[in-house]
Amino acid sequence: MDSRISGFYKLSVEERRERIRGLADLDEDAVEAVGGLGLDDRRADTISENVIGTLEYPLSVATNFKIDGEDTLVPMAIEETSVVAAASYAARMARAEGGFTTDVSGPLMIAQIQAVDVEDPHAAKVRIHQHADKLRELADEQDPVLVEHGGGCQEVQVRVVDTPRGQMVVTHLVVDVRDAMGGNAVNTMAEALAPEIEAITGGDVELRILSNLADRRLGRATCRVPPEQLNDEDSDLSGEEVRDRIVDAWAFAEGDPYRAATHNKGIMNGIDAVTTATFNDWRAIEAGAHTYAAMDGYDSLTTYEVDDDGHLVGSIEMPIQIGTVGGATQLQPAAGAAMDILDVDSADEFAGVLAAVGLAQNLAALRALVSEGIQQGHMSLHAKNIAIQAGAPGELVDEIAERMVEEDAIRQDRAEELLEELSE
Ligand code: MEV
Repeated sequence: MDSRISGFYKLSVEERRERIRGLADLDEDAVEAVGGLGLDDRRADTISENVIGTLEYPLSVATNFKIDGEDTLVPMAIEETSVVAAASYAARMARAEGGFTTDVSGPLMIAQIQAVDVEDPHAAKVRIHQHADKLRELADEQDPVLVEHGGGCQEVQVRVVDTPRGQMVVTHLVVDVRDAMGGNAVNTMAEALAPEIEAITGGDVELRILSNLADRRLGRATCRVPPEQLNDEDSDLSGEEVRDRIVDAWAFAEGDPYRAATHNKGIMNGIDAVTTATFNDWRAIEAGAHTYAAMDGYDSLTTYEVDDDGHLVGSIEMPIQIGTVGGATQLQPAAGAAMDILDVDSADEFAGVLAAVGLAQNLAALRALVSEGIQQGHMSLHAKNIAIQAGAPGELVDEIAERMVEEDAIRQDRAEELLEELSE
């Protein structure tokens, strides 16, 4: 399978669906789900409360991705213009040197058990460690299926945490959750261990819940881009200049949290779009990402360097809490189809893909920001949206949008004027 589909963007939605059906070997149900039959009221009503309907997103496929030597089609669901095109663009730049290489630290989630009113917190910490084997066993008893699949509680850590309400003894269960996101598994374990922790510490256990700072579940990716891939023909800048400006842009994010917030938001544009398309918990990944970025003063989740060959080398490292089993994906048929398109075999592989997409998204944003700026790329789709908002019927949308781009006047009032003019 080749993820470089030339002219994909020029096809109609139906033609694109057909191409992806062939490339990803989708069955009839998946194609139907992607085509809009998606989530019905009955299913929606089992997913959330007080449901009154469903909300659709555009479902797109980013092209050109090669990840760990394999061509990968990346499903993305997002309402923001240019994100999918940008990811595909960066994936094409990275392809010249083999695409993205990833590494995942393993599917380890952390659950926290908070004990308050412990008279001797530091001694209690020692006592918990003394009982670690028994606590691990008790945790594993809560999920025999996970243990059968090679997962389970691997480690008990204890921290004495200073808080505005005094010292608290916080026990961490580090759990290998295999291919699950793992939230339910670790929460169940933490709840089950509460009486034991109370007995050992002599305190009261209050919270028992996972930590989204999943710093034992890190996704990493890297790519190399030759400078000649970095400039486009419209730019006055050489590839080397663009490369050096990208390193400056990264340094800006390293030094300034105001910039780092936007820089990291760009990374999450890509990651959230894939997690939305596959109906996964993007809020968990968001929480983990930003907290990880703040561990040492808030800064960038990516790094850019120049290697001996003069290539730009980008890399990313961040917590990625994602699963391929047990989540809500299969409740939403279109999300199930998105997983078929993505075709990953494990949670680790999925996390690697997300890391690569995050890096690609960031690279594309920085390349545009240091050269032509991002507005140019936004223009044409944005103009179409403005035309639609001004009430343009289907057959006039393209013409009104094109006129506004030509005139460099992409505004609702101009769209309304053009609509009146062209409707006469
Ligand atoms: C927009 O959604 C994302 C960017 O602002 C990211 C960035 O500034 O790096 C373009």
